[in-house]
Amino acid sequence: MLRALLAKHLVVIKILLHSLALLPLVWLAWQTYQQQLGGDPVQYLTHFTGKGGLNLLLITLCVSPIAKTLRWGFLLQTRRLLGLWALAYALVHVSIFWWLDLAGRFDLLLSEIVKRPYISLGALALVILIALGVTSFNHVRRKMGRHWQRLHNWVYLVAILVPIHYYWSVKSGLVEPTLYLILAGFLLLLRHNKLPISISQFSKREQI
Ligand code: HEM
Repeated sequence: MLRALLAKHLVVIKILLHSLALLPLVWLAWQTYQQQLGGDPVQYLTHFTGKGGLNLLLITLCVSPIAKTLRWGFLLQTRRLLGLWALAYALVHVSIFWWLDLAGRFDLLLSEIVKRPYISLGALALVILIALGVTSFNHVRRKMGRHWQRLHNWVYLVAILVPIHYYWSVKSGLVEPTLYLILAGFLLLLRHNKLPISISQFSKREQI
């Protein structure tokens, strides 16, 4: 009954998800306007938007397992909007770094990407995310045929690259990036049904 009700109100769920994704950015803009970003505002903005992108990416990857386990197929239709929000946060993250840390100099951004391995990984993740974002629309999907799924499986590489980018960027406080790495690894194993209890087994048990 709940499933039918939620499926019927998918538009409401989508509006809610858009609002929840947008709200932190509005809050961040307000905090910036109020000059309440602490002693190092640029670092605060970079960290906030980077973490936002990573969280949204992992939430996107949680949708399929949840939809399969609960047999809520309609939830799959929220993946694109969540993925695009992850891309939006990543773009804001890089723009802040480029604009405020590197004074908008493209040559400096390129040399950072070449010189610092953790930035190279971030850049690779961003390029893949952009490719996934621009091909996420239905008409492109139809045109790409079976190549579409192959390309979109790269999202799991992004889910591993970004926590490594995070882990590598911090000098101390490794617990949080390590937890993100474990979560990303868990989602990857779940996708390939490599866990002792896979989703399909779980669903079968539910049927019994
Ligand atoms: C060209 C691409 C990228 C550049 C230049 C870049 C740059 C940076 C920089 C400068 C930092 C902060 C390092 C420090 O505190 O010293 C950082 C941290 C981070 N970035 Fe990126 N990044 C890129 C791509 C991405 C992408 C695509 C994501 C996520 C989808 C991401 C997520 C993060 C996260 C989660 C952190 C750690 C935040 C924290 O410490 O709280 N980055 N990045």
